[in-house]
This record gives sequence, structure tokens and C-alpha cells, in this order.
Amino acid sequence: MWNKNTLCDLVSEKMSGYHFVVVSNREPYIHVHEKGEVRCQVPASGLTTALDPVMRACGGTWIAHGSGGADREMVDEKNRIAVPPKEPKYTLRRVWLSKEEEAGYYYGFSNEALWPLCHISYTRPEFKEDDWNTYYRVNRLFANTVLEEVGDKKAFVFVQDYHLALVPGFLREAGNIITAQFWHIPWPNPEAFRICPWQTEILDGLLGNHLLGFHIRYHCNNFLDTIDRAIEARVDRERYEVQRRGLKTAVRPYPISVDFDELNQEAQQPSVEEEVQSLKKRLELGDVVVGLGLDRIDYTKGIPDRLKAFDRFLERWSEYRGKVVFIQAGVPSRVHIGVYKALNEEVDNLIEEINWKHSSDHWKPIIYLREKLRPLTLTALRRMANFCVVSSLHDGMNLVAKEYVANRFDEDGVLLLSPFTGASRELPDAIATNPYATDHFAAAIKEAVEMPLHERKRRMRRMRQMVRENNIYKWASDMISDLARFEFGEG
Ligand code: G6P
Repeated sequence: MWNKNTLCDLVSEKMSGYHFVVVSNREPYIHVHEKGEVRCQVPASGLTTALDPVMRACGGTWIAHGSGGADREMVDEKNRIAVPPKEPKYTLRRVWLSKEEEAGYYYGFSNEALWPLCHISYTRPEFKEDDWNTYYRVNRLFANTVLEEVGDKKAFVFVQDYHLALVPGFLREAGNIITAQFWHIPWPNPEAFRICPWQTEILDGLLGNHLLGFHIRYHCNNFLDTIDRAIEARVDRERYEVQRRGLKTAVRPYPISVDFDELNQEAQQPSVEEEVQSLKKRLELGDVVVGLGLDRIDYTKGIPDRLKAFDRFLERWSEYRGKVVFIQAGVPSRVHIGVYKALNEEVDNLIEEINWKHSSDHWKPIIYLREKLRPLTLTALRRMANFCVVSSLHDGMNLVAKEYVANRFDEDGVLLLSPFTGASRELPDAIATNPYATDHFAAAIKEAVEMPLHERKRRMRRMRQMVRENNIYKWASDMISDLARFEFGEG
């Protein structure tokens, strides 16, 4: 079974003498000013959640956008800081962006064009030439920062996600770098992707990678189909390789995961039990059945859909009024984008309406925790929730589902999981819940509430076994083993 130590061994066997560099937009530790002090926060991001334990085990340099208000105060003259702050294990190199760069590259092309383009959730992408130009420039800036960090050492550079699709293309010339990229979101079918006016440039950038990873084989197939349709290249479907202009890129599935052992142990700390008790008191829960939704407030997560399903559940099975409470914990996200603002309003309004419709003097069906919660509180919520709802309209993997399972050392708890998440392929013991089908969804909530203990345990045990085996160290080890097969200077 893969763990921290086996990953460390693999890294020292395969990568000794090489610099290991991770590049992403989002940084794993953000420094902010809060009540006159500098505080360190960890972001709500599947990407950083997954990669931080890997970097802690491997060491190396993580290059990312320094987005926190106090970030500049914390770095040295080379814009570096050792992290995690309490127990440094690797270097974080921060990249500074102007407001305009952030607007065009992050909010604009990454999140108004590529995000909706890759998630089929019926939000129209917006393609603006200015955003694209800024995206190009910022990708160049990230690539230059990599080259500066690497110098003439041999390096494995591991690029993350859709914000940095052009970086590998800029690095391919360097003979001392082997580049891999992991695409943390879905890759859509060619029909959907072809509306992007810069599809050739994006595909060319990605084909700068020696190795390109997606969560599931379906996304790899979509990518190969897109290449086939969009550009001139040789696609080898047996070996899952693409050859373009003499360069070869291997395309592989690597289902991302969580640090199972860490989450499993964390949940057993006495402080978690204390937090559970204090939450129950603070939220006046008594002995109701607790449902939980835990998301970034994003339109791909199907939050209104789950609220409507919960409403329908209370309408149809009114005997549960007063007996079930749904806690929606949500971190605001990308709030400068119009559709996100509108979603926040929609969620607020829906919760108000549903609460107004069903609540009594002693009971309110939905509790909305909109603030950024401490990791301890998040663990306590997962520990105490009788069922957890992941209802994404489309999701590359979804780590909330795996975190819930990993925290449930008591082997209790029911997971309702959308079949449109990557995670659903690995967790068939969850109740499959189509977010688009409100009545079916409402019935799934009833099933979760009524599921007998032995059945809950049977399912949870199997899900835990799956996440325990296919943990984040396996994900990283698989990718690193594949990476280490490439020869430096290979075209
Ligand atoms: C998804 C993306 C990540 C991103 C995260 C949070 O998981 O794949 O790249 O970091 O959402 O979004 P944010 O825009 O806050 O980084």
C-alpha cells in the first residue's frame, strides 16, 4: 500500500539529483491580514489539498500566484518562503500578478472561458481576445519563473491545471526539463471543445508535455478525440500517445485522491469530538439527522439542485419535518465573476424560501454556514453528518466525497454522489444521485435517512477500503514512476 514513506523512497530512487518543481495558479498557503495580524490560510481547492501532502513528502519547489494580501511581507528577496509555516518541508515561490493580469488571466480566460468550456454544466463560456492575450503573457511569466528556478539543473516540472495550459509548450525547448501536467477538471468531447477560438494554441501548449494526466480514461479519450479533430497529429490509441511535430506526449488517467491515513487519524482526535459537541450546541441540533453539503460556491457543484431536492424531500415525506437538518457549508469563490455572484444570490434566496416554507418554532431545515471554516470544524462536520451530498453537475474527481469517507473511522455515514463526478467511478457504494432529477434526488435523500446501520457500514467499509488503497500517495507515485521513464533531452 502506498504511503508517505514509500513515496519518499520512490522519489529518492528515481529523482535524486533532480529538482522537483510544481507549478500551479493557486498557492497552498496564503498569508492575509486579519484583525491587525498576519494569518496563514489554506485555500478551498482540490488541487492544493491533494498536492500539499505530496510536496511535504517529496520536498522541492512549488511555484504559484501569491494572491494573499500579506504574501509579499512573508517572502525573502527571491520571493520564496519555506512551508508549511509551522513545519517547513518545501519551498513556495510566489509569482506576483497585477490586478489587470489577474483579471484577464485568472478571472477572465481561466474561469470565464476554460472552466465553463470543460465543465458541461450549461454555463456559456466567454471568449475575449484581451483575456486570451493576458492568459498568454501570464503563462509565459510562469514559464520564465520555472526556468529561473531550475537554471541548468535537471528538473521534473509538474504543471497543474487549466490556468497554465501554455506553460509546457514554453518549456519543451529546454533539454534539461521533463514536463508533466495534470488537468484537474474534466476534458469535454470535441464537439464542446471546438467552440474555443484558441483551441490550436491550447492543444499545442499541452502537447509540450511529456506526460499529460486526467482523472479518468474517459477524459483521456475525449482529449485524443479532440486532437484528432482539431489539429494535425498522430494519435496512437493503443499506446495512448500523441505525436506532433516530432514531439511525443503520453496521455494517462490518474484518479486523484486524499491522504487517507492523515484524515482518518485526524478525525479521531479528542478535539474533533469536542468540536462536534460544541457545533451541536451552537447550531441547536438536538438529536436530528444531519445532512451535509460542503463546497466552494460554484455553479458546477449543483448546490441549488440539492437544495431543491431537500425541499422536495420535506414536501413529499412531511413526517421528516423537524427531524432532519441540512447543513450547507460553502466557501465563496471567484466572486468577481457575474455568474458566481448570481449563484450566491440564488442560493441565499432558495435557502430563505425553503426555510420559510417548512420551518417551525423549534426547527429550521437548512443551516447555511457561509464563512470560511477552520479545518477542525470541517472535520467535525464530516464526522457528525449522517449523510453527505455531493451533487456536482460535472466534476473532474471531487475530493469532498473522498474526505468524507476518509474521516468516517466509525464506518458510519451515507454518501450521496452525482454520477457526473470522477469519484463516482471509484465509489459505487455511494447512492448515485442525479442532480438534474429532483424527485429521484429527493427519494435518494429518503433512502440515506432510512438506511439501516448494517447497510451503512457495509457500504462505508468498502468505500474506505477503496480510498485507503487508492490514496494520494498512489496517485503521485504512479505519475512519478511514469515520468521517470522519460529520458532527458527526449523530443
Ligand atoms: C478546482 C480547480 C483548482 C482550483 C480550485 C479552487 O478544484 O481545479 O485549480 O484551485 O478549483 O478554485 P480557485 O479558483 O479558488 O483556485
